[in-house]
Amino acid sequence: MFSFFKKKNDPNLNLSFLEVDMHSHLLPNLDDGLISMDDTIAFAKQLQDLGYKKLICTPHILPGVHDNSPELILPKLLEVKDAFTQNNIDIKIEAAAEYMVGTEFQESIEKGEQLLTFGDKHILIEMSYAFPSQNMAQVIFDLKIKGYKPILAHPERYNYYLGNYEIYEEFIGRGCLLQINLLSLTGFYGKPVQKAAEYLVKNNMISFIGTDMHHAGHLEMTKILATSTKFHRLAENLDLKNKSLL
Ligand SMILES: [Fe+2]
Repeated sequence: MFSFFKKKNDPNLNLSFLEVDMHSHLLPNLDDGLISMDDTIAFAKQLQDLGYKKLICTPHILPGVHDNSPELILPKLLEVKDAFTQNNIDIKIEAAAEYMVGTEFQESIEKGEQLLTFGDKHILIEMSYAFPSQNMAQVIFDLKIKGYKPILAHPERYNYYLGNYEIYEEFIGRGCLLQINLLSLTGFYGKPVQKAAEYLVKNNMISFIGTDMHHAGHLEMTKILATSTKFHRLAENLDLKNKSLL
């Protein structure tokens, strides 16, 4: 995974061209992301130093595993905003969610329950890493009928799709936008994931790049990536929508 970094990197490069991170687990103690408010503050400062102007936090919503809801997530966002004010951190912060696509999620859409979105009714969805969601096509259809703009999180990380790149075209054809993880481009998640991410980038199939930040390891690798000339060559000419969320 380190071959990406063998090239001479430029310490003056950063991630300011992205402006907005729209996928992260920075709200404390809601899922498998950050645990303490101190960490949330420290990460926000460092992400600001990397050039981000806004952080959109997307805690997992996966019934039985991460039982999150707007009632839990939105008050936590207010606590974080309060802590930012007290600590003189002026980066913008918002909260939405990363919805696991399954039967419960489909029922939530059908019942018209409140769904957490960002931007222009953009909604972040994911699947299990073990198997694809059987109702994915239906969920994308249902979301779009209700005016949502679904974004599939990290399509490059679903191992069952590796080597079947046509599936990405299918998602786009159904009106689902794609978001890759920054670190997928480094080989952090393995060589096949890196190859898939590079394919998506080179074919201009992605609309967003997110950090999907969960812990200090992600942050440290992100700092290294930020200075990578190879990364900037790959990513800076993409037609990304991150900035539209500012
Ligand atoms: Fe995530």
